[in-house]
Order: sequence, then structure tokens, then C-alpha cells
Amino acid sequence: LNVSIIGVPSDYGQTRRGVDMGPSAIRYAGVVQRLEAIGHTVQDLGDIHVSQDHKENDANEKLRNLEEIVDVSTTLANRVHGVLEDKKFPLVLGGDHSIAIGTLAGLGDHYENLGVIWYDAHADLNTDETTPSGNIHGMPLAVSVGLGHERLINIRNYVPKVKPENVIIIGARSVDPGERELIKEQGIKVYTMHEIDRLGMTHVMEDAIQYLKDRNVDGLHLSLDLDGLDPLYTPGVGTPVPGGITYRESHLAMEMLQESGMVTSAEFVEVNPILDEKNQTANVAVELIGSLFGETLV
Ligand code: ARG
Ligand code: MN
Ligand code: MN
Ligand code: MN
Repeated sequence: LNVSIIGVPSDYGQTRRGVDMGPSAIRYAGVVQRLEAIGHTVQDLGDIHVSQDHKENDANEKLRNLEEIVDVSTTLANRVHGVLEDKKFPLVLGGDHSIAIGTLAGLGDHYENLGVIWYDAHADLNTDETTPSGNIHGMPLAVSVGLGHERLINIRNYVPKVKPENVIIIGARSVDPGERELIKEQGIKVYTMHEIDRLGMTHVMEDAIQYLKDRNVDGLHLSLDLDGLDPLYTPGVGTPVPGGITYRESHLAMEMLQESGMVTSAEFVEVNPILDEKNQTANVAVELIGSLFGETLV
């Protein structure tokens, strides 16, 4: 594959500083070398520009840093779209999960019927009306299916970026009341930790892949929030939730996605080096990227 890496050093989607250093930490953990060792051709496009004017008090308590996030999303969306037009595989490194607003805006109008796997402890389906925190990193999936503030849903001027029935959430274990309603109302497929425990990751991934095949998706984006894993393995995240997906289950999920041959773009988000232990979370991100891109032992 020809892989183009895009770093997005943004922490505007939540209130803990440090996640803007995620792209550096993932590069330091050796992402380029890892992909090259598999045999891929890698071009690191560097980081997109992200302003650094953090306000002390944001007037918009239900949509913190809205303007900055609209800016970052627009720049990122155009960059991602350009990578697709160059026939390369976009690999986006966050930054907090609000960056997915931009990634998906850049993907959605390249495909007729994009599918999305949202690997996360959270559903990220809040809107400015349901958010308990005002943090936009809790909203990117809602925005991508066309729900939420009009400045956010209109990046690149089309709505939605992905059909709700083409979305699968894997690993959910912290879902807010408004999100629960949206999941039902929009027909979003969710494998919570309950299903992962009960069925096993093999079964969950087989089902998920078959579901997306049956829906005839012509592109598949993996949006992987490192908090989807248990904080035992990925402590360097801003909103850890215990009882998560294991390291081995996550590798298996990545390997099964690789085997499916369906994945056409990916992003790894929420790595916060300040909260981390010796870059462990970025190291796990790079290991999972290895499996997703076809690393094998023998
Ligand atoms: N549901 C919570 C909220 O809306 C937490 C969201 C966490 N999102 C994330 N991408 N880590 O604030
Ligand atoms: Mn185009
Ligand atoms: Mn999360
Ligand atoms: Mn998330």
C-alpha cells in the first residue's frame, strides 16, 4: 500500500491538555518504520496546522472551542480528500476524537456507501443538546451521521458523511442517555463489552465484517479511540473507562480487519503522552497499526 500519514495535533475537543502531542508520540513509537518493515510505502505529510490560542473561558459551554474545531476539521477534511484523490491510504494520527469530524468529512464524498467501525469505550453520539460535558470529542459520530451543530455537520458542504446504518461501534461501555436514544432511533449497530465477553472477539468481528459486506460498503474507515482498550494497556487517555477490550482481543480485531481486505482508511486518536506511562499508549497504537496493515510473525 501507499500510506499517507497526517498528524492532527488538536486538543480542542476536550479539556485535558497533552493530547495534541499524540502525533509526535506515535511517530516516536516508530509508526513509519513499522509500516515500511511490512513492505508499505509511507509518506509522512507531517501535522496539519492547528492554532494554539486556548481560551480561558469559552462562551459556548455546550460546544467548547467550536470555531477552532471547525477550522481544524475543514483543513483535515480537505487534506484527507486529497490523499484519496492521490490513490493513497490516509492514516490519521490524533489528537482527540473530535478530529474524526474532519477525517470523515474528507472521506464521505469520495465513496458512494462508506462504512465506519468506531472502536471506542464511548459512542461519541452526543450533540450540543445532549452533551453532559460540552466537549466536542463526545460528538464526532453524531456529527458524521448528520446530527448536531450546523457548523460541524456542514464541513465540505454535504450531510451526512456516513449513513447511520453503515456504522458499527465496538467496545462501548460508557453511553450517555441521549446517546442510547440515538442508537435506537438511528439504527446504529453496537457491540458493547457485553457482546464481546459473551460472543468473543472472533464472533463479533466476523459479524461486523459480514454486516458491512451485506450493506455493500465501498470503503471502510476504522476510527480507533485508544480508550476502547482497557486502561491497563492504554493508560495515556483522557477519559479512561475500566472493563475494556484487551490487548490480545484488539490485535485479533485488527488482524481480522486486515484479512477482510476492506479497510480503506484509519485513524488512531486520544493518545495523551502527559497522562501516559513511558509512551505505552503510543506503543500500543503502533503495534495495532502493525496488525491492521498486515504484520505477521511467520
Ligand atoms: N460521553 C462523554 C461526553 O460526551 C465522554 C466522551 C468521550 N469521548 C472520547 N472521544 N473519548 O463528554
Ligand atoms: Mn473528489
Ligand atoms: Mn472514547
Ligand atoms: Mn472516542
